Amino acid sequence: MLWLQRERRQGELFGQDGKYAFAADVLSPNRFVVSALVSHFDQILSDAQAAFAAAADAPALEQAKARFLGKSGSLTELLKGLGKLDPDARRTAGAEINQCKSAVEAALEARRDALRSAQLETQLRAEALDVSLPGRGMGVGGLHPVNRTLERVESLFRSIGFEVADGPEIEGDWHNFTALNTPENHPARSMHDTFYLQDAPGVLLRTHTSPVQIRSMQAHAERYANASVMPELRIIAPGRVYRVDSDATHSPMFHQVEGLWIGENISFAGLKGVIIDFLKRFFETDELQVRFRPSFFPFTEPSAEIDFAFMSGPNKGRWLEIAGCGMVHPNVLKNGGMDSQRYTGFAFGMGLDRLTMLRYGINDLRLFFENDLRFLTQFN
Ligand code: DAH
Repeated sequence: MLWLQRERRQGELFGQDGKYAFAADVLSPNRFVVSALVSHFDQILSDAQAAFAAAADAPALEQAKARFLGKSGSLTELLKGLGKLDPDARRTAGAEINQCKSAVEAALEARRDALRSAQLETQLRAEALDVSLPGRGMGVGGLHPVNRTLERVESLFRSIGFEVADGPEIEGDWHNFTALNTPENHPARSMHDTFYLQDAPGVLLRTHTSPVQIRSMQAHAERYANASVMPELRIIAPGRVYRVDSDATHSPMFHQVEGLWIGENISFAGLKGVIIDFLKRFFETDELQVRFRPSFFPFTEPSAEIDFAFMSGPNKGRWLEIAGCGMVHPNVLKNGGMDSQRYTGFAFGMGLDRLTMLRYGINDLRLFFENDLRFLTQFN
């Protein structure tokens, strides 16, 4: 009577879930209860395995897991009911439940693994590399078009006996202005929007390549100070210059090439010859008109601006401004250490970027400074 009662309680215990219900009357004393439980657990395990196998993806698997191991899953419910058993049966049943739980968890983990590797497999297949595709190459750049112009200008002037001179881009006020016959407060200084260095009075970013005229004359005069005859000075000085300016045709940094020819009997006629010949050779055409338009620069007298026009092609007949020039002012010769009574000379300053744009038909100066390979490789 006593054990029957106990079994009834166990029947209640396992009867909470319709599917795994025990009929009180099939239960036997504890040892039979336990053996009945074992087959019961086998059932739970095989149900769990079937449910896990049916889960096609991770979310479905987590839902299946909840039915067995969740808060009100069948195994959890069984564990909750253990307390109602007497100690002996509790111990045995508890061990069985835990064993069953471990088996269910192992089945769950195995299915998780299987789904994970299946997913990885799909992903790998989707992202498969076709190793037979040709490579993309090294993306070689090219010589910058302005440097191409520079090389071309240098070789053309070298061919008529010019040397290439150099000067600092951070320049002193004296070399950039004063020595070039542009003293402080001279209105011509306002023609250049100058970058001055903070905390360094009198130091600036050169606004033109003209200060190289002074440096070259000084070096030349010093070198031939004791010679009976001074050879002619013939230089070009290409390089970067800086002005506070920025739009489609102006960049705060741009390139100029300075030219200077000093000697006895150097005339404006010589200047015209050199410039006209240079332009024809640079643009590889004789179909070119050049004009010297009177102008003003403090460091030359007389001064002119040089325009030229193509006689054919897309720019046909349009006057294009290309340089400033003139006969070197006696004050400038003196500042360069030259005997202004004995020597004369001409000078010119040309825009390298502009020469490049005209030669290649480029209409926006900013393209030069964007480092875009699609632009740069077109000149290779
Ligand atoms: N330095 C002038 C400028 O940047 C250009 C120039 C004009 C240079 C006349 C010269 C020259 O050598 O003779 O605007």
